[in-house]
Amino acid sequence: MVVSHTDSISGHHLNLNEFAIRAWLDVCEAGFGWSRYQPFKPTDSAVYVTGMETEGPPDLAGIIVYNIDEDRRAHIQIGYVLPAYRGQGAYSAMYKYLIENVEGRGVNVIESIIHPDNTPMMSLAQSQERDIVGYIMRHNLRG
Ligand SMILES: CC(C)(COP(=O)(O)OP(=O)(O)OC[C@H]1O[C@@H](n2cnc3c(N)ncnc32)[C@H](O)[C@@H]1OP(=O)(O)O)[C@@H](O)C(=O)NCCC(=O)NCCS
Repeated sequence: MVVSHTDSISGHHLNLNEFAIRAWLDVCEAGFGWSRYQPFKPTDSAVYVTGMETEGPPDLAGIIVYNIDEDRRAHIQIGYVLPAYRGQGAYSAMYKYLIENVEGRGVNVIESIIHPDNTPMMSLAQSQERDIVGYIMRHNLRG
């Protein structure tokens, strides 16, 4: 498994923007989208994972799309791992990488919106010691 980062999902050689769009449609199909409104922009950044195949060329397996606002808060717009690669620590690896990356850029808080029926994501977030306040998952990185 290889975890990488890009400042912008647009124009990336691994078609990260398209992957994220498909991921969001899949989340909506599962009933965990709040509308078919696309939560991220092509200019958003991402952490992504490749190289989880047992054979064949390394392919994209998962992504966390995020941005950082003017108050140095990071906002995760979508976190997704392809079904075939779930349960092998891909999301955990991407999230750890994200924390290390944004902490180095002065970010104190990571936030994201959670659909109230998305119990898998909620239990995952709680195991990472994120707070869930209404529709917001919040991770205070310092203090
Ligand atoms: C949620 C999701 C990102 C998890 O990805 P993953 O790579 O399978 O997660 P990991 O293997 O890194 O597991 C991380 C932790 O979450 C737990 N976990 C993973 N899937 C879980 C599930 N379905 N139910 C409960 N806990 C789960 C794991 O046990 C693990 O806990 P541990 O560290 O204590 O062992 C993935 O299932 C997914 O893409 N779901 C659809 C997209 C989605 O709903 N995204 C959120 C809204 S945008």
